[in-house]
Amino acid sequence: MISSRFFSPGKLGPLTLRNRSIRAAAFEGMSAHHNVTEALIAYHTAVAKGGTGMTTVAYASVNKSGLSFEHQLWLRKEIIPQLRKLTDSIHREGAAASIQIGHCGNMANSAVTATRPLAPSGGINWYGPTIPRRMSKTDIAEVIADFRNSVRIAAESGFDAVEVHAGHGYLISQFLSPYTNKRNDEYGGSFENRSRFMREVLTAVREKLPPHMALLVKMNCWDGFEGGITKQEAAQTARIIEQCGAHAIVVSGGFVSRAPMYVMRGSMPIDVMAHFIREPFKRFFVKHFGKQLIPSLPFSEGYFMEEAKSIQKEVTIPVVLVGGMNSITTIEKAINEGFEWIAIARALIENPNFVNDLKNEVIRKSACTICNYCVAKMYTEEMACHLHQSNIPEALKPKIAALANG
Ligand SMILES: Cc1cc2nc3c(=O)[nH]c(=O)nc-3n(C[C@H](O)[C@H](O)[C@H](O)COP(=O)(O)O)c2cc1C
Repeated sequence: MISSRFFSPGKLGPLTLRNRSIRAAAFEGMSAHHNVTEALIAYHTAVAKGGTGMTTVAYASVNKSGLSFEHQLWLRKEIIPQLRKLTDSIHREGAAASIQIGHCGNMANSAVTATRPLAPSGGINWYGPTIPRRMSKTDIAEVIADFRNSVRIAAESGFDAVEVHAGHGYLISQFLSPYTNKRNDEYGGSFENRSRFMREVLTAVREKLPPHMALLVKMNCWDGFEGGITKQEAAQTARIIEQCGAHAIVVSGGFVSRAPMYVMRGSMPIDVMAHFIREPFKRFFVKHFGKQLIPSLPFSEGYFMEEAKSIQKEVTIPVVLVGGMNSITTIEKAINEGFEWIAIARALIENPNFVNDLKNEVIRKSACTICNYCVAKMYTEEMACHLHQSNIPEALKPKIAALANG
């Protein structure tokens, strides 16, 4: 059995976790009609049983206007009993439970929200495609109140932590980024102004957070293209997050509407994505324009390691390292270089037992091939790894195989 520090308990704010692994927020697509399902409970329970220190339920919207998908969790008081069932099940297996809360801003799907998407500024979001409405000060105050209320719901549901999503080009990130924030009031222009919305959200969240719960914030080290936030602004973002009282920062990057593969690296399996889309127009659009909209980026293990180290120099709270932490070699390298916490998404989609399998030396490396089938499928159905699907059409198999290893 490996005795790496990775497998030893650690303190994350007020929490003590049994080891240094966190299941990264990765949208499960298991929330039909925005509810907790047996599938969602079974998946996170399996991750907990598989030895992970804390598992993060992904991409829960703080209100209806922040939803991108019909099968996405929406935090509201009616589902507290279901959420409680989920956290109880995770706790029974010895893991802590975190929930990622956010609002997708201009990425909202009007067919789901029944309103125009909200955004810092108007204009067209080609990735949707959506034509968002510029948020008024009242909209801003309402969304902040919804973040605050979501913390109350998370606490009543038995979660040990909340992770505020301030990256990947969703609403908070849209305010931070000059690419999507063209406002000329106190929420736009200078970085001080562009970061105001995040500061107000985090202040509201911190006010409601009970002392026994941890606050994590996921942020971008870079939006992934020139014209987004700069690296200096990312450093400032981290300092603000610390000043607002967060216990840890998850350092990621990328902008779903502009540089999506900067988040995950590799290629988006466009044919797989199109295969799962039901609406004929959307399927046609993705099939013919997908490759231009979602350019590939090479994958390597630990691909945010250098950026995360730079952010760690700016703050005293720990940085959670995410991005291709797929082998014990890379995890140990990160731990030896001073990272306290390692977050893992795809390796735990492929194998919920990944952490125990590393610990017990059953494997040294994930079997995930970075083909991103799980991502393409999640847009319309439950996420799943192609290695464990028996119903993949023959025509797609060579296309998935060709994307292996990013
Ligand atoms: C299927 C899938 C869904 C994802 N959904 C989210 C999400 O809802 N919120 C988020 O912050 N990141 C999301 N991500 C990004 C992951 O949290 C993580 O940052 C990224 O996949 C890199 O980690 P990995 O190499 O361990 O997969 C998702 C990734 C995958 C593969």
